[in-house]
Amino acid sequence: MERLQKIIAHSGYTSRRKAEDLIVAGKVTVNGVVMKELGTKVKRSDVIIVEGNILSLEEKVYYVLYKPEGYISSTDDEKGRKTVLDLVPRDKRVYPVGRLDYDTSGVLLLTNDGDFTNLMTSPKHHVEKEYRVKLKGFLRKEESTRICRGIRIENYKTKKARITDVVYNKENETTLATIIITEGKYHQVKLMFDAVNHPVLRLKRVRFGIITLDNMKTGEHRLLKPYELKQLKGLVE
Ligand code: URA
Repeated sequence: MERLQKIIAHSGYTSRRKAEDLIVAGKVTVNGVVMKELGTKVKRSDVIIVEGNILSLEEKVYYVLYKPEGYISSTDDEKGRKTVLDLVPRDKRVYPVGRLDYDTSGVLLLTNDGDFTNLMTSPKHHVEKEYRVKLKGFLRKEESTRICRGIRIENYKTKKARITDVVYNKENETTLATIIITEGKYHQVKLMFDAVNHPVLRLKRVRFGIITLDNMKTGEHRLLKPYELKQLKGLVE
């Protein structure tokens, strides 16, 4: 049991001082009852509503998943396909931070921390995402330069990107390359290479910010370490 104002402050909703003001002003309910008493003790399982907003008291959790191909990055699918939630513990209500396509593999973060998700996915911030791609045909230098300078995909011009480690496979006429982007538009990497007529045949995200796949196997997940979380947040502050 903890004091109501402390629980509100710990949830990140507001400071303890402001939480006290809100309680006294009758803006807080616990299990549907207005609580104006500052000393009230509550349990984490109580339903606390502040100014009409339900308070999330669940402990925050952050996973990195090596997403395999053949899973969708949403919480459920009307076609009944497997989702990334099938690969992580279900005791907390986590959801993916951004998305990877059904046929894309690689680093995917999942959390129940909405503020963290907003930080990581906001276009205002420029968290690097690194992908290894297999392309149809041979990607020429000038095509690579066009992509890196920013290329029109649908009605949008992409931000600067980097392409490195280009390797040609002469036998099956494909190119392997690494591309680093700082945005996350829908199908962005596929559309960027489509724009120079080299469709993506395979796509794997090998890095999100500072998080790589290290020694993970496909389908595996692990908790983010506190220092990794701190560094990820540090990238956008
Ligand atoms: N770009 C894409 O086209 N697909 C992904 O899954 C990720 C980035």
